[in-house]
Amino acid sequence: MGTNRWMTRRQALAGATAVGVAAPLLAACGSGGGSSGASDAPDVTSGEKLGPASDVPVGGGTIYADQKIVVTQPTEGQFRGFSSICTHQGCPVTAVKDGTINCTCHGSKFSITDGSVATGPATKPLPAVAVTVTGGEITTA
Ligand code: FES
Repeated sequence: MGTNRWMTRRQALAGATAVGVAAPLLAACGSGGGSSGASDAPDVTSGEKLGPASDVPVGGGTIYADQKIVVTQPTEGQFRGFSSICTHQGCPVTAVKDGTINCTCHGSKFSITDGSVATGPATKPLPAVAVTVTGGEITTA
């Protein structure tokens, strides 16, 4: 009786497993981003006319609601500009009286001199806005 030998040939398929999947390249976001500060400050266009300086009383101020700017004159000839948006919860301030810029939403008051908080609940000062007076007219700087 003959013996058959079955030679099992194993063909090891050496695994040259070609990975055809291209690794997704995460394109570096080169542009944009970054930390843009001063988010509280109003978006002010330089050279925008606000009104006559004579509208701003010494020791008081005037609110330019359209431009979201309040201009004060703490002492004669010294004009200061601030955002008119309350830093508490974003109401527009409504009055300048007795040396403060006042928000009636919750009663915050800010100094007409530097925008600092005189009375809470606001905790942050009104951001300053640069203004200039030329020929008796107040404009944003
Ligand atoms: S939003 Fe001005 S006091 Fe609250």
